[in-house]
Amino acid sequence: MGQTASTTAVCSRIQSSAGACGDNNHGNNSPVAANRMQGYPLFKSNTSNNNNSNPHKMSLELKIASLEEELISKNRELAALRESISQKPGFAKLEGDVCIRSTRKQSAAVLVQSYEPLTVNSRRRKIEDYCRDLVINNDHISRMEQRLRESIEKGLDKKTHDMASVKCFPTYVRELPSGHECGKFLALDLGGTNFRVVLIEIGENEKFEMDNEVYAISQDLMNGSGDDLFDHIASCLANFAKARKIDKEVLPLGFTFSFPCKQKGLAVGELISWTKGFSCKGVEGEDVVTLLKNAINKRGDIHVDVAAILNDTTGCLMSCAWKNHNCRIGLIIGTGTNACYLEDLEKVGLWDGDINNPKHVIVNTEWGAFGDHGELDFIVTKWDHRVDEGSINPGKQIFEKMISGMYMGEVVRQVLVDLVDEDLIFAKQPLENLRTRGRFYTKYVSEIESDQVGDYTQCREALKDLGMTNVTDEDCSALRHVCECVSRRAGFMVSAGITALLKKMDYKDVVVAIDGSVFRFHPHFENIMRSRIRQLMGTEYKFDLMLSTDGSGRGAALVAAVLMGECAI
Ligand code: GLC
Repeated sequence: MGQTASTTAVCSRIQSSAGACGDNNHGNNSPVAANRMQGYPLFKSNTSNNNNSNPHKMSLELKIASLEEELISKNRELAALRESISQKPGFAKLEGDVCIRSTRKQSAAVLVQSYEPLTVNSRRRKIEDYCRDLVINNDHISRMEQRLRESIEKGLDKKTHDMASVKCFPTYVRELPSGHECGKFLALDLGGTNFRVVLIEIGENEKFEMDNEVYAISQDLMNGSGDDLFDHIASCLANFAKARKIDKEVLPLGFTFSFPCKQKGLAVGELISWTKGFSCKGVEGEDVVTLLKNAINKRGDIHVDVAAILNDTTGCLMSCAWKNHNCRIGLIIGTGTNACYLEDLEKVGLWDGDINNPKHVIVNTEWGAFGDHGELDFIVTKWDHRVDEGSINPGKQIFEKMISGMYMGEVVRQVLVDLVDEDLIFAKQPLENLRTRGRFYTKYVSEIESDQVGDYTQCREALKDLGMTNVTDEDCSALRHVCECVSRRAGFMVSAGITALLKKMDYKDVVVAIDGSVFRFHPHFENIMRSRIRQLMGTEYKFDLMLSTDGSGRGAALVAAVLMGECAI
C-alpha cells in the first residue's frame, strides 16, 4: 500500500515539473516527449544515419544526447525536491529573524495518504505568492528609516512642524531619575480600554511599592462626551483615594495620558487628535489637565496636585532610566505604537523654554502618524487600506496601523478573507466569525506563532474560538504563514524606527526601554527586532532592549518625584 502510494506521488511530481511521467504519455502526444519518457537520447531514432559521414557532427550530437539525459535526470531530482518541500509545508522556526523551513520527518507514503501533494503544491505556492506584498526587504527598510529621519527633522523644526506627519512634541521632561527619589505619589493611566489609578511609594534601597486598581472604559465612554470621560476618571480616583484613606491628603499626581498632546509646560498638554479608537467630543484642542482638574474640583471630595502630564513612552523611558542610566529611548508596541527619545535642546527647533542644564529634553515623536503624508505608500498593501478605511480615523496613524496590537489581527483577517474568496484556505469551514471585522484578535497571532514548528495546538485553539474545527494541517500551516508575514513586517518596521532614532542620536551605547502587549506576548518579536537593528546599525554601535515594567504607573510617579528633587537619604 505504502509502495503504491509512493509511486503515485513520484508520477505526479514528474508530470508537474518535467512535463513527462513514467510509463505512458498521460495527455502528452509529442514524439519528443515520448522519447524523453523512455530515457533515450533524441538523436538515436531520427538522425543516426547521417552521423557516420560527419564525425565532428556525431561527437556534438553525442554530447547533446548526454546533456539531454543529464537534464532529464536533473529535472526528476528537482521535481522530487520540490515535492519533498511541499509535502511538509510547515514554515518557520524563527531564530532571530531568520525563517528556517522545517525538515521533513514523515515518509512520502504517509503524507500521500493524508492529502494530495499536487493540490498542496500549487495551493501553498499561490498563498505564498499572495502574501508577497507583505514581505519587506532591506531596501524597503532602509528607505523607511531614512524617510522617518527626515520626518522627525521636519517635526522638530518650527518652520516645518505644521507640515510634518511625525510631530515630535517636546515633553518638558528634562531630568532623568537618579535612583535617589522618594515620596508618595498618585498616578493616573489612560491610554487604552482600561484606566488605572496607582498609589506609589518610592524610598531607600530601590523601594518601589505600588497599589493599583483597574477600571474599564466602556465603548460608550470612549466615544461619548469628554465631560463624561473626565467625570468617570475623577470618580474612580475619588473611590480609590477613599478606600485607601488618602482622600484628605494632597498628593502629587502624574497623569499618563497616551495620546498626542502638544505640551506647553510639564503640566499643560493640549490633545491634538484622539487615536486608538477614542473619539470623545470636546477634548481635541483642549488642555486635558484643565479638564481633569475641573472634573475633580466639581466633586469637591478629593484634592490632588497635578504635577505632570506625560505620554506612556516617557513613562516607559523614565521607569527604565531609574535603573539604567544608558536608557535614552522609550518605545511602546501595544494597542498603539510610539517612541520618545532624549534630544539635545539645540536640535529641538520647537523648544521655547530655558537652555540651562540639563541641555536635553525628552521628545515624544508620535511616530504612529508616520505615513499619513504618503511616506509609506511604497509598502502599504490593499489589506492595510481596508484596515484603515474601516477604522475610526481613516488616513491617520498609518505606521501604527501596520504595526500595533489594535490592528495586527485585523490585517491578518483581511488577508485570510481574500484567501478564502480565492478558495485557497478553510474550505467547508463556517466563516461567519472570520468575516466579522475585528473578530480575529491580535492575541491569536502570538498564540499561533507560539506553537512548535509542525505542531498546531494553539493554532487550533484559536480557530476553535472562531468556530472552526477539524482544520487540516495544511490550512494551519498557511494561517501561520500569514501571521508570520504580518508580524515580521511589523517587527521590521519598528526596527527601522529604532534605527532612525539611534542614528539621529548618534550615541554609541543606548538602551531602549520597551513595553506593550505585542512586544511582551509575541514569541518572536524581540528576536526579530534585535537581529534586524543589529544588522541596520552595524557593529560600531551597541544597543540593548530592556523590558520596562509598568512604565505608565511607575514612570508617572517618577516624573512627579524628579520634580520634587532627591531625598536626603
Ligand atoms: C498612540 C498614541 C501615543 C501613544 C501610543 C502607544 O500612538 O497616539 O500617544 O504613545 O499610542 O500607546
